[in-house]
Amino acid sequence: MKVFSDIVSLREELSSLKNMNYKIGLVPTMGYLHEGHISLIRTSKGENDITVLSIYVNPTQFALDEDLDNYPTDLENDKKVAKEAGADIIFIPCNEIMYSNNHLTYVTVDNLTNNLCGKSRPTHFNGVTTIVTKLFNIVQPDKAYFGQKDAQQAIIIKKMVNDLNIPIKIIECPIVREKDGLAMSSRNAYLNKNERNKATILYKSLQYAKSLIIKGERNAHKITSNIANMITKESGVNIDYINVVDVNTLEDISILKGNILIAIAVKLGDTRLIDNIRLEVQ
Ligand code: PAF
Repeated sequence: MKVFSDIVSLREELSSLKNMNYKIGLVPTMGYLHEGHISLIRTSKGENDITVLSIYVNPTQFALDEDLDNYPTDLENDKKVAKEAGADIIFIPCNEIMYSNNHLTYVTVDNLTNNLCGKSRPTHFNGVTTIVTKLFNIVQPDKAYFGQKDAQQAIIIKKMVNDLNIPIKIIECPIVREKDGLAMSSRNAYLNKNERNKATILYKSLQYAKSLIIKGERNAHKITSNIANMITKESGVNIDYINVVDVNTLEDISILKGNILIAIAVKLGDTRLIDNIRLEVQ
């Protein structure tokens, strides 16, 4: 496994691999790797000749009052985990390399960024689409891999790639969960024992919502209020949003039909957690 921190030498390496017609998969991450990231690396490994993992905590996707300064990092462990999972190349740039002092260009996806996390984090997705575009331009992979835990992010990136004719196939990979259902996230590291126990309510409430839908419930308000009732019973878990949206538009729906996403964001102490399930409803 080779580690690069500058763009010129990474591009040199990649261009000689591309000359040999190697297929390149990119797994963009902010590091502090967990099983969710490992599953992205493994999926890329199965579909490409070379898997590039990027590790970069992107400042433009954090608002000033968010956790940029405390975001968990452990580069040494990440390198070990990435190697074991089968990554061939890791790209670990610093801020000076990714953003010049005079960086003026941002990529914006309209509409899809207005609801869910975009509502509570209005600058977040501009940062994500900008850095992902930069990583796409630097690596120029054939495919790029994103987890479905960040469902809105994956949907926005797919739209961006389509709208801007970026010749990269976006592969969405299923959420990887702890044994008790908690979706894997680097931010789980912030949780103390008590918060960690309470965090299971996200998946439990989503599973309960699913059982109601299986029994025939089609009213979105009934679904969100049942989830809210379950979550508010856990003291200290504060709801940011619970929405039932259409997967294509990410707009709220009132009657469940077609491809839907039930998405939740809560704050547990200072930690923001998100989770979701996708369902096809007749
Ligand atoms: O999902 C993430 O970890 C980040 O949003 C991403 C896609 C690596 C961009 O910084």
